[in-house]
Amino acid sequence: MGCSDPTGTPPTCTVTVDLRMVGGMGGNITSCMPDTSQDNPRRAAITGVATYVPDRIVTNAELARTLDTSDDWIVTRTGIRERRRGGPGETTSTMGAEAVRRLMAAKGLAPDQVDVLIVATVTPDMFFPATACLIQDQVGLQSTWGFDLSAACSGFLYALTTGAQFVASGVHRRVIVVGADLMSAIIDPLDRTTAVLFGDGAGAVVIEPVERGGFLGFELGADGGGGESLWLPGSGSRHFDDPQSFVKMNGREVYKFATRVLVSSAQKLLDEVGMTVDDVDVYVPHQANIRIIDHAAKKLGFPPKKVVVNVEKYGNTSSGSIPLALADAAKDGRLKPGAKVLMTGMGAGLTWGSSLIEWTEEMAA
Ligand code: ACO
Repeated sequence: MGCSDPTGTPPTCTVTVDLRMVGGMGGNITSCMPDTSQDNPRRAAITGVATYVPDRIVTNAELARTLDTSDDWIVTRTGIRERRRGGPGETTSTMGAEAVRRLMAAKGLAPDQVDVLIVATVTPDMFFPATACLIQDQVGLQSTWGFDLSAACSGFLYALTTGAQFVASGVHRRVIVVGADLMSAIIDPLDRTTAVLFGDGAGAVVIEPVERGGFLGFELGADGGGGESLWLPGSGSRHFDDPQSFVKMNGREVYKFATRVLVSSAQKLLDEVGMTVDDVDVYVPHQANIRIIDHAAKKLGFPPKKVVVNVEKYGNTSSGSIPLALADAAKDGRLKPGAKVLMTGMGAGLTWGSSLIEWTEEMAA
């Protein structure tokens, strides 16, 4: 490890983290966190969560006024009743910044206590500067470095995994991970096959070293071959004959992928850490569609009381989905110290990821 001050806030340093990795076949990897009995890696945990959603609520009835759809169709096929939409001047960075401000206020964090800011998003304000830089500026985090990460609805879990390594390796003491998407910016309001599904929102968590518990393992994967099932052609450097400014989705393909991977990812991770579904107290799946969630929960064997669901009020908020659900679980008292929390997401890429945490608020010295 090349850092002389592992708990400070150097903006640059070189580090090699020696992780025990297993199962890296076919584009996916399952890993435990570093073995804390060896060398000096630390335990890392989510020690706080905060969210921001725009005030504006868009109901199914409102959508049905401009689209050939109905409240009944949307509720029956997706479980979604309403979603949030950003108002004038609201962007991914403003939503993310507000979630970070709320998190820092709740935790009593000063700006110079945040080392790294990782922003998972597929709706950056612009290609560059990174949304992380825009949030850094808006919140006044002068000594924080950061970057954006793009993995659609899996983005939060990819970013969480990345952030946890900085803390577990001892390189940094405090990482804030933001999942934020203003999906209304890239969804065709006249396409009923996508317009009813997505909403805007942001969540932020802070990762810190803890004495016990915290992250137990991750499972992450990607299948770029499925990229065209859910994509935004024409949004980058590649030339398309028919560029699109809105999301294109093959709903049935994504549905099949989602139901399969939510189960396999969770199962692989539990096998890797030597646990079963019975050991998990709180299941936080990506909030895309109640039918996908119910299918995964049933197949895995989770009783409804262990499953966190808020898709009815926010729709699919992409990178914001899991932190918004986690915050609801925190609010309703489910995230008790010692609780095992399993989060699984999937999305464009195609990508997927799971993370298992033993909830704890016991900070390491
Ligand atoms: N209102 C009314 N009718 C609709 C609507 C709508 N909003 N949308 C589609 N339909 C119609 C279709 O046109 C079709 O009509 P047709 O039979 O005349 O062709 C009919 O309803 C049935 O369409 P299906 O696609 O078969 O409906 P399905 O039951 O599969 O539900 C849905 C569609 C909800 C999109 C489902 O496939 C799904 O949830 N897929 C996963 C989508 C998803 O989660 N995407 C995000 C992934 S995460 C990420 O990274 C962003």
